[in-house]
Amino acid sequence: MISVVIIGYGNVAQHLLKAFLKVDAVDVKQVYSRTLSKVSHLKNVSFTDDISKLIDADIYIIAVSDDAIPLVSSQINNKGLIVHTSGSVSIDSLKNKGNKGVMYPLQSFSKEKEINFNEVPFCLETQNSDDYQLLEKLTLFLSKKIFAINSKQRQRLHVAAVFVNNFTNHMYTIGQDICDEHNVPFEVLLPLIQEGASKIKFLHPKEAQTGPAIRKDKKTIENHLNLLNDKQQNIYKLLTKSIQNG
Ligand SMILES: NC(=O)c1ccc[n+]([C@@H]2O[C@H](COP(=O)([O-])OP(=O)(O)OC[C@H]3O[C@@H](n4cnc5c(N)ncnc54)[C@H](OP(=O)(O)O)[C@@H]3O)[C@@H](O)[C@H]2O)c1
Repeated sequence: MISVVIIGYGNVAQHLLKAFLKVDAVDVKQVYSRTLSKVSHLKNVSFTDDISKLIDADIYIIAVSDDAIPLVSSQINNKGLIVHTSGSVSIDSLKNKGNKGVMYPLQSFSKEKEINFNEVPFCLETQNSDDYQLLEKLTLFLSKKIFAINSKQRQRLHVAAVFVNNFTNHMYTIGQDICDEHNVPFEVLLPLIQEGASKIKFLHPKEAQTGPAIRKDKKTIENHLNLLNDKQQNIYKLLTKSIQNG
């Protein structure tokens, strides 16, 4: 049995809590939130808004905003392994006196959207091998996709994730705007989005690249630019240049 305390009650914390409550071998001892009203409805789990009253546990999972990680960790005096869940924050940002680690789930979490943890890659980091084994044992109850990734690698991975997810999503928003403006249903584009994402499981993204930029179809590019507003033109030109420069 591994005992756990969850610190914070945002997107990630709520999904982790829900998942761990289904695992018999994990005992969620407590949930901390600085806003008591957010956790006081919890049944079968002890909760607190007083960080000095945390129950002893094997692992403390800090799932609070990135900027709050140093302060929140510095307030934990309990023994046990203290990990955060951030992609961009170094393990050294944990300011507790004891053992430190990172348990970064590389997925986009929203409260309203169910998550299948089996499909979520976890990037783990600790300061010693005993802690790694413990953290790996806990994580294996959620997912088999576990990667040992240090802080420097994780920060780079996080930037890569911003490109492949956040920026791509912004492209969907622009696509949706263009469709809305011209009364075309956005759903016509959904199979294309789906195919683009599945293709790169088998092909290097560079090999999967199609479109007027890679073909250097100047006329089509000019026609497209004439259909766009200033902001869209800037993005289109920048990406076209980047694709053409390889
Ligand atoms: N969302 C994702 O897709 C995702 C994916 C992977 C990793 N992560 C990482 O997981 C962590 C949590 O992200 P999230 O999306 O779950 O954030 P979130 O939904 O915005 O929740 C943030 C939580 O932090 C608490 N908090 C903020 N400042 C605090 C402070 N000074 N003291 C105590 N609690 C504080 C908030 O409390 P209140 O509710 O009281 O304000 C809230 O419970 C971050 O490190 C993030 O980088 C997020």
